[in-house]
Amino acid sequence: MCGIVGYIGDKQASDIIIKGLQRLEYRGYDSAGLALFNGKLEIKKGKGKVDNLRKLLKKEPVKGSVGIGHTRWATHGAPNDINSHPHTSESGKIALVHNGIIENYTSLKKELKNKGRTFHTDTDTEVIAQLIEEIYQDGQNVSFQKAVRLALKQIVGTYGLAIVHSETPDRIIIARKGSPLLLGLGDGEMFIASDASPIIEHTKKVVYLDDGEIAIVTKDGYEVKTIDDVSLTKEVHELAMSVEEIEKSGYPHFMLKEIFEQPNSIADCLRGRLDVKNHSIQLGGLVDVMDKLIGAKRLIIAACGTSWHAGLVGEYLFEHLSKIPVEVEYASEFRYREPLINEDDVMLVISQSGETADTLAAVREAKQRGATVLGICNVVGSTIARETDAGVYTHAGPEIGVASTKAFTAQVSVLAMMAIMIGQKKNTIDPEYAERLIEELDRIPGKVKQIVEQSDSIKRMAELFTYAPNFLYLGRTYNFPVALEGALKLKEISYIHAEGYPAAEMKHGPIALIDAMMPVVVIAATDHTNDKMISNIEEVKARKGRIISITGKENEEVIDLSEFSCPIPETEDCLSPLLTVIPLQLLSYYIAVNRGCNVDQPRNLAKSVTVE
Ligand code: G6P
Repeated sequence: MCGIVGYIGDKQASDIIIKGLQRLEYRGYDSAGLALFNGKLEIKKGKGKVDNLRKLLKKEPVKGSVGIGHTRWATHGAPNDINSHPHTSESGKIALVHNGIIENYTSLKKELKNKGRTFHTDTDTEVIAQLIEEIYQDGQNVSFQKAVRLALKQIVGTYGLAIVHSETPDRIIIARKGSPLLLGLGDGEMFIASDASPIIEHTKKVVYLDDGEIAIVTKDGYEVKTIDDVSLTKEVHELAMSVEEIEKSGYPHFMLKEIFEQPNSIADCLRGRLDVKNHSIQLGGLVDVMDKLIGAKRLIIAACGTSWHAGLVGEYLFEHLSKIPVEVEYASEFRYREPLINEDDVMLVISQSGETADTLAAVREAKQRGATVLGICNVVGSTIARETDAGVYTHAGPEIGVASTKAFTAQVSVLAMMAIMIGQKKNTIDPEYAERLIEELDRIPGKVKQIVEQSDSIKRMAELFTYAPNFLYLGRTYNFPVALEGALKLKEISYIHAEGYPAAEMKHGPIALIDAMMPVVVIAATDHTNDKMISNIEEVKARKGRIISITGKENEEVIDLSEFSCPIPETEDCLSPLLTVIPLQLLSYYIAVNRGCNVDQPRNLAKSVTVE
């Protein structure tokens, strides 16, 4: 949610900032802007994508080797030119970019207006620039740095901030509370960004800023302090990702690339963990909490969006294989009700980005109540990964497309490994069944490959349903969460209304919607509910609904009842979501492309939701 890039060194800052913002565009693309030192502070900004800003700078170039930039996902104030970042103080001497929400901005704005300040935007961010300036002008002996600290102490809410002042063109001040920021350490140059993707091509050395920290960044160094002015020594981390991983590599969209990457991303996730020869699983990140997991009386899974759907698959897996009662919570709900959670409980949070504000808040809430909190994250070094007591990385590689695909299959792979491993340790799983599952998990990447290789037939099918106004997705047991995920994918990128339902629940409402216009996607992995699913298909057909089925190759009965069928290789029921979700990702992708939608940057969405 909003991306920040900053540069200080000897190169042209605008080139580095624009390229960096383009890498961060998945965080928001309502408007973009930058501030550069060019003798004086110059600002260019406007509504729309970073490419508009690039074109503007081509027409009206600004030179300068120090600058800050921003790509916006609008919260306060419409996405227009005026509300675009950077925002400035009244004198124009202070410029800043902000990711987050200032909750007390209305009262601060009122106070500042009473002191004679004029506001020009509808944003919460402008208040920060004005407040810093008010404090800086007020106190005779207040340095700019101190003014920033004092202002931040008055602010309630969340922020990742990069601030420049025309009187100190040799530095950028950055601060973090709740919204991610990191510092890339170069040789005679420094980079600032919301995540590592803009930094990776310049340096692999990074420092993650933590909440309540401020850094003063010059081209030759940096100093990190707490908001109370206590100096800190920060650990320097080495980034593992490569530039190639964040390029499109010839695919028209990141989403398609990421769908096709799944045979590899699942294999990467399993690598070094799944020991097929010895039929065992090692998850190094959980060793220290293994006793806690084995003894857990219940497991609370909290997540948002697609990660929440993976969490639902996790519920079925843990209850079936590890015999641990599981509750799956929307992270946003968990924190605002009075959750009954204490030191006896284990919470597992799932987050691709590791930065989702609600999920992070759930982590903090659970930790504060004494629970052991574990994480499944994709982004190495992300806030959730750092704040949880232990966890497992999904190793799916950077996911750039806003609609999550390979992160989901990697999350489910980790959940399956965890559930089997705990089941083996607790003896709640039949040893031979565990061996079969481990062998089958190892075969999953190859089976996913077979499915993506059928993409042309899914593409043809998508053409027939491109203009359907509604879709219904039905699944049972392990594939009910997949039905939810399939519907979400379609909504997110094609803007077609779609609902996912447990197949039997259809009779309690959605059946009223079924007519000859309604495509019904049935996810019928062959399991003990197959006969029931066949009855549900008959119920849909009796009302002239059009059946698209995702089902095992051998499931002839379902295939015969379907208008279209996407056969998937046979697998164990509990692993079937890893296969059944793939055709649904492809279906939504091709429908969105046919409808001319911007697949990688769907309207109103952002990949990393760092506001509540
Ligand atoms: C946003 C994204 C979704 C994602 C959700 C949770 O809504 O658009 O794709 O599933 O956030 O994100 P997380 O990074 O916590 O998995």
